[in-house]
Amino acid sequence: MQTIVFLMYTSTFALADLPDYRFPDDFVFGAASASYQIEGAWNEDGKGENIWDRSLHEHPDWVIDKSNGDIACDSYHKYKEDVQLLKNLGVNFYRFSISWSRILPTGKTDQINQAGIDYYNSLINELLANGIEPYATMFHWDLPQPLQDEGGWPERKTADYFIDYARVLFENFGDRVKRWITFNEIIQICEGGYSGGSFAPFIKNPGIGGYECTHTILLAHGKTYRLYDSDFRGKQQGQIGISIDSFWHEPDYLDRETDQQASEIDLEMNFGWFVNPCVKGNYPDVMIERVKKNSISEGYNRSRLPEFSPEEQEMMKGTYDFIGLNHYSSDKVYLAVDGAGDHPSHWVDTGVIRYQDSSWPDSACSWFKVVPWGINKLLVWIKNHYNNPPVFITENGFSDYGQHDDYVRANYYKDYLYEILKAIHEQNCNVIGYTAWSLMDNFEWMSGYTLRFGLHYVDFDDPERPRTRKLSSYVYNNILTTRHVDWDYYPDWPPTQDNTKQIN
Ligand code: NOJ
Repeated sequence: MQTIVFLMYTSTFALADLPDYRFPDDFVFGAASASYQIEGAWNEDGKGENIWDRSLHEHPDWVIDKSNGDIACDSYHKYKEDVQLLKNLGVNFYRFSISWSRILPTGKTDQINQAGIDYYNSLINELLANGIEPYATMFHWDLPQPLQDEGGWPERKTADYFIDYARVLFENFGDRVKRWITFNEIIQICEGGYSGGSFAPFIKNPGIGGYECTHTILLAHGKTYRLYDSDFRGKQQGQIGISIDSFWHEPDYLDRETDQQASEIDLEMNFGWFVNPCVKGNYPDVMIERVKKNSISEGYNRSRLPEFSPEEQEMMKGTYDFIGLNHYSSDKVYLAVDGAGDHPSHWVDTGVIRYQDSSWPDSACSWFKVVPWGINKLLVWIKNHYNNPPVFITENGFSDYGQHDDYVRANYYKDYLYEILKAIHEQNCNVIGYTAWSLMDNFEWMSGYTLRFGLHYVDFDDPERPRTRKLSSYVYNNILTTRHVDWDYYPDWPPTQDNTKQIN
């Protein structure tokens, strides 16, 4: 049985004779989730309404299966079970996100919801009691609705409210949370939320909304980092980073100069856009130039891209202890013919056409194919552009429609993790940790519950939301305990009594 399966789903490298690289001793492994995607309990115990609650209650039909996060995995009630899943997985840490509205129902500090603080304290303490480090994301897309009513992220004052919220988090949890991620995937929050209108709060203002939103968020990130420096770092001794998502953008023809330019521009304008300010204090030069040129030709008096003042640049520079990277896939790129696409927009400002090679294996998501070597090239690019900073992979994973014997996901993890090993051993990239997305199947935003990323299967038809281990969870456990990729390892399947009894 195993041999047949092995041949059917063989990973890209399985048959090659490759060096048996090991993960460094201090390299850490974990699994991730996010509040809106797993917690449920959307209006329990004093939680306030957030922009996803509001939007999806008002427009259920915007999500493929008309679902929402009202109950999701019900982790608000089942967190102890989730911690046992993590324990059985053998991970060093759990990356979860904190729901701003659960802590501050109005988004502001006029009301602090003690029940929300208690919930995260219980989760953090349960993790620590089971030997798992809590890593907390402060913002994974669920802005309190009252702050959206005042304009949301494009409004600069939202940064001040975020900093107030961050202080509450440091004060309440910073004695135990030693790795913080301020924001998750700014491009999705801002281009999705305020330019393209594809994510909450579903506002369409292309070419402007996304830039304004990003500017506020970057200032909020920088100031939160400085707040930690001044008031908390001394006694709490933790680290702060930010999670930025990026594909690798492969030049369409490797030796064609314009395709190489397209790759570089795309990386600068979709990754450098966020990382450059945190590392070097400002947006990439190429981005400043391109947005200004387009803005003027569109009739604006100045660039649509906001500017950091000299003081803000100084404040922003170096505001990271690690760069969080969320990576799933890659594409090929070439330069767009000038004027292609609707003005103004970030796409037109970038001026690059992307496509995915039809020969690359599919996932269940329309937006990604399996391209393991892409993560290697991206890690090398980051090393070269930012002087080999510590990079923490804060998300990586595979989507399917839902099966327990998920050999394809297992092989995805093997292949991507081996490319990370190569980046560490062959290219000397400073990669310090890895996070599987996701601990369990959950609410996948506009795809609802139709797509599954979990290492554990969740039965959403059952009110109890039972979780069961998938095959990939054993493979991931094998990698992180043996600290290398064993191409031949697959668990017996279906699992024996022995290895299922750890569940629940
Ligand atoms: C990125 C996001 O951070 C997460 O919320 C989402 O579920 C995964 N990628 C998969 O799309």
